[in-house]
Amino acid sequence: MPTPQHTVLALCPLLPPEMARLEAHFHVVRLYNENDPESALQAVKNDVVAIISNPNTPVRASLMEALPALEIVTQFAVGTDNIDLPMAKTRGIAVTNTPDVLTDDTADIAVALLLALSRRIVEADMFVRIGKWGQSPMPLGVTPKGKTVGIVGLGRIGQAVAKRLTAFDMRVVYHGRQQKADIAYGFYPDLVRMAADCDYLIATVSGGAATQNMINEDVLTALGPKGYLINIARGSVVDEAALIAALQKGAIAGAGLDVYAHEPNVPKELKSMDNVVLLPHIGSATIETRTIMGEIVLANLQAHFSGKPLITPV
Ligand code: GLV
Repeated sequence: MPTPQHTVLALCPLLPPEMARLEAHFHVVRLYNENDPESALQAVKNDVVAIISNPNTPVRASLMEALPALEIVTQFAVGTDNIDLPMAKTRGIAVTNTPDVLTDDTADIAVALLLALSRRIVEADMFVRIGKWGQSPMPLGVTPKGKTVGIVGLGRIGQAVAKRLTAFDMRVVYHGRQQKADIAYGFYPDLVRMAADCDYLIATVSGGAATQNMINEDVLTALGPKGYLINIARGSVVDEAALIAALQKGAIAGAGLDVYAHEPNVPKELKSMDNVVLLPHIGSATIETRTIMGEIVLANLQAHFSGKPLITPV
């Protein structure tokens, strides 16, 4: 392992045990704790050899350019749309992420949102707490059983969501860049067409320029007044203004969101709606998974600075 003067710029924390292990081997600058991050960065910029980042910490070309000794960006997440990958490649900076280990927890959050929306779980909890039980009838939910769910982006997480929902006797279809061999779910090359045939649309696709606003007004209109949108992917995948408009005019039935266009800012319009369930980007947020993710970050740093192959290169 490197000597402690190797500086790691932590743009976000790992869990405390992994942070402690990191600090045993590196000089760690916790930029997220600094009152004046710009000055803190200036003070160490020539020593930073590694960055720890997550989806809410941009790693732009300008940051990489400011760090002449930067060798590796270790992303504490699977998605890497916050990182300027072409610039990293040009500069020969390695990038790693934490795939696979968070697939199941993230898929669980999609199912949790689907059930919460269908069975009005959040509303029902409030109904009990504010003493409405016994005073007025609780509005009925809808059953997922027998309904059609369209997965937008059938990657690892999408497939894990699909597997779970078939156990709820739902019909699964999917949209992606291309049909996948050995997958029996129905494939739609056209997202609007799929939305028109679905009761639920679940976004699990990667973020980035290629998927920016792919769930737009046309898709939401096709989903229709009985349809629900669930987004556990990236806020950028959904046109947030179009979503708000669709919810306001009843063009769709509701939405379950774990991600937003400008995290941690959630539009006030969404916060005021009963048919919307809002989570603070918690797809991978379990103790077990965040621990393993931190271990993967450490293992990649260790491998890199010992001249060994990276564990999970991007
Ligand atoms: C979470 O959003 C991730 O990309 O891991």
